[in-house]
Amino acid sequence: MAARVVPVDPFDLVVFGATGDLARRKLIPALYHRMADGQMPDGARIIGTARSEMDAEGFRALASEALDTFVPAENLDADIRRRFLGCLDYLKLDVSTPEGWTNLRGKLGTDDRPCAHYLSVAPRFFGMIAEGISKAGLVDANTRIVVEKPLGRDLASARALNAQLAEGFEESQVYRIDHYLGKETVQNLMALRFANTLFEPLWNAQHVDHVQITVAESVGIAGRGPYYDNVGAMRDMVQNHLLQLLCLTAMEPPARFEPDAVRDEKLKVLRALEPLIDPADVVRGQYRANGETKSYREEAENDSSMTESFVALKAKVSNWRWAGVPFYLRTGKRLRNRVSEIAIQFRDVPHSIFPGAGATPHPNVLAIRLQPDEGITLSMTVKDPGPGGMRLADTKLDMSFAERLAATGMRMPDAYERLVMDVIRGDQTLFMRGDEVEAAWAWIDPIIAAWQSAPAPKLYDAGSSGPEDALMLLHRDGRRWREIET
Ligand code: BG6
Repeated sequence: MAARVVPVDPFDLVVFGATGDLARRKLIPALYHRMADGQMPDGARIIGTARSEMDAEGFRALASEALDTFVPAENLDADIRRRFLGCLDYLKLDVSTPEGWTNLRGKLGTDDRPCAHYLSVAPRFFGMIAEGISKAGLVDANTRIVVEKPLGRDLASARALNAQLAEGFEESQVYRIDHYLGKETVQNLMALRFANTLFEPLWNAQHVDHVQITVAESVGIAGRGPYYDNVGAMRDMVQNHLLQLLCLTAMEPPARFEPDAVRDEKLKVLRALEPLIDPADVVRGQYRANGETKSYREEAENDSSMTESFVALKAKVSNWRWAGVPFYLRTGKRLRNRVSEIAIQFRDVPHSIFPGAGATPHPNVLAIRLQPDEGITLSMTVKDPGPGGMRLADTKLDMSFAERLAATGMRMPDAYERLVMDVIRGDQTLFMRGDEVEAAWAWIDPIIAAWQSAPAPKLYDAGSSGPEDALMLLHRDGRRWREIET
């Protein structure tokens, strides 16, 4: 069965940094898939730009190779590939020279079709390119600009970037990608909350004991050492992906599923976060060597690095809905497994009427699984089947999106497929607004600042669940982390 798609109008997409890793790994495959699913209109143009000397044919060859490498063979089709490559064009562009911009203007022509400029380049070029696009007279009502993290490294730099973007573009033209928002399960979290009556009445401090948000990765930082060592897990993951997940979990129902209605509610959550002042509420860790696996410092090639590859923290959302409910967040590299999930643990029953049940608590847990095996599970307590009295057992209602899609012959789309098409359609709902990014930094900055005088990160074995102190963060509260298991 073909995927249900709404075709978009013909558009131009200019990819700055088109020969780079993000373009090859994510954008080109995502656009190919949209064409295969029938969403790419005739006449769409994807113009790669970079400093490399290359012609359109050279770029098509590079893109074709990216398809072979990053698109599963069963999804490749010769005819679709030919049509897709036919949409590609290339312009050698040095963004620091006026000629480059004149050439781009010439290539784009003067029609008023939607034109998105995707800045798949290092952040230090964001300001220069935004200015270049605007000075070249390339901004009209149908122009959009796309940037992706890192969006600053603190509040001051995020503000400076927002100001630079605002010089040439309206906020409604700026698309700040957090690719977690494009993940199928993250969108499903909103459907689960706001298209069902079942959970929303329970979605508050009266019924929820606590929330755990985990983004555990088994990979290390090999290949990104110098970049990552200057950033760390707090800036790389918590400031954006984990806080966005927290926002979607904690926000009030927006009046409509529209960009500003959704983003206003997320912003309120960020602004309701209590400052994290107790150092015991944040644990940062760094992996050490384990057997064959190198240590963080070896991979970063920095013997004295104090950069964290792991963070666990206890956040509190100070509002009526969530007063007293901890949100435990953790993320790290080189953990036991790759698992991302949001788990809502409900309060236990106030009184157990089953004598055999003992003191063991059986709380219901709703787990929204982002990866792997996207889906939702709800842990329930049931009677252990068979004779032997009233013994209780925990069981799971389990819904796997992948299985559901497979049954309909569809594949799980990558986050970038949804996000790139939303840019073209002009839908900002799944993109961060400038004030959200700033509010997130405003909460993160003091935590990072406090580390200047704090002891070194706690070491944990590569392949483990993280440092002991992270376990203690929950033990102290009489709780425990969910296992990081696939
Ligand atoms: C990126 C981070 O934003 O997200 C990486 O910079 C991280 O460090 C990646 O590995 C994780 O994304 P995903 O989609 O693989 O969970």
